Order: sequence, then C-alpha cells, then structure tokens
Amino acid sequence: MIKKKIPAKLPNHIGIILDGNGRWATRQGLPRNFGHREGVNAIVRTVEAARKFGIKRLSVFAFSTENWKRSDEEVEGIFDLLKEFFVKELDRMVKNEVKINFFGDLSRFKGELREILDKTVRATENNDAIVVNICLNYGGKQDIVQAVNKLIAEGKKEITEEDISNNLYSKGQPDLDFVIRTSGEQRISNFMIYQLAYAELYFPKILWPDFDEKALCEALIEYSKRKRRFGGY
Ligand code: FPP
Repeated sequence: MIKKKIPAKLPNHIGIILDGNGRWATRQGLPRNFGHREGVNAIVRTVEAARKFGIKRLSVFAFSTENWKRSDEEVEGIFDLLKEFFVKELDRMVKNEVKINFFGDLSRFKGELREILDKTVRATENNDAIVVNICLNYGGKQDIVQAVNKLIAEGKKEITEEDISNNLYSKGQPDLDFVIRTSGEQRISNFMIYQLAYAELYFPKILWPDFDEKALCEALIEYSKRKRRFGGY
C-alpha cells in the first residue's frame, strides 16, 4: 500500500541522525538503554523499508566522538547492543545483500566488539542491494582532520576539495542528498559535515524508536518537494 505513494524523485544517499531514544524510554518510565534497544529495531525497519523503496545508500549516526561523555552504563549498553545485533543479524544482512561499512575511528573498539565489526564488513563487502554506513566513534570534524593528515603523510603541498572527499571515511561514495534528524531537534551535531554541504535537511518530531516505513515514506515525500539548486537558480 505504502509503496504506491513513494515519489519518483528519491535521494541517492540519506543520512540519519537518530535522536530521541532516551526520551522515548524516559516517557515510559524505562531506563535509557531500553530506548536504544528499540532504536536498533527502528534501524532494522528503516533499512528494510529503504531497500524496498529502492534507496541505495544510508548513513546512520550511531555513536559520536562526543557520546563517550555519557555514563559508563549507557555506553556499555550501546556496545552490548551492537555486538548482539551484528552477531544475530549477519546472516540476514548477507541474504538481503546489505553492505555494511563503519565510518569513524574504530581503534577505540577492542576485543570481541572489534572482531565482530571487522567480520561484518568482510562478510558483506560484495553485497549491493543497499549500502549502510554506520558512524561509530565518528565526528565530522575528526573525519576532515584524518583526511588532511593522510594527505600530509602523502607529502601533498596543496589540496583540492576532491582530495579531501577522496580521503574521508566515505571515499568513493556520493555526498548526502538528504539528512533526517528525528525528535524535533534542529542540529547537525558534527555529522558528516563535509558530505552534507548541499543536503536537504528534515527534522520530523517523531522519536527515533517510533520511526518506521510510514515515517520514511513521509520523509521521502517531503524530499520530493524540495527544489535543489546547488547555488544556481
Ligand atoms: C540518540 O538518542 C541515540 C544514540 C546517540 C545512540 C544510539 C545507538 C544505538 C541505537 C546503537 C546502534 C546500533 C546499531 C545496530 C547500529 P538519545 O539517547 O540522544 O536520545 P535523547 O536525546 O532522547 O536522550
């Protein structure tokens, strides 16, 4: 039913700043990590809906370089969810041709979690139904700095915009067309700031754990109404 309403003009690459997990849990008198668990279910629903609608690329802000400021309990809860998710869902991702990349400084993830992340990338690298980039220990400023440092290490004296693009975590991928941040907050919070330079921004009030196929459909309808001018007329 919903598929009928999907507009013809779709974004190639959607960025998602998932926000509102904590509020969702607090409103129901539950600990914050219950909100993150429901947030993971919303990611699964969204990837499935996006794939069905023909979206080829999603980038999801799962854990920022600033999220370490949260309590140890909350951070460990998020990492436990990541481990559980990638172990449980790997076969389904392979079967559904979902390719997973991780953007961010993964050197802070050690042991079992790191092994699971690396295994996920290896096991899904040849898939091509939809690419899902998961930003973990990611910051947009840090992404640009690491790109510039790679160029310095190569001995570059002068750099172009293309040089930077080619050394970001997203190298080889198109820039973002559309960024969705849930929960009504209207901020970018250091998410892929170089790649979203010309993206359309959308701030629905829905909390991330409630996001679903219908909410994605509404977002795509909103995108289809935007006139992208890239600085021209
Ligand atoms: C934002 O809501 C949520 C986060 C910063 C963490 C979300 C991480 C996950 C759901 C784990 C990712 C898992 C996979 C499989 C990629 P918030 O806590 O900032 O909500 P609030 O603003 O209401 O407090």
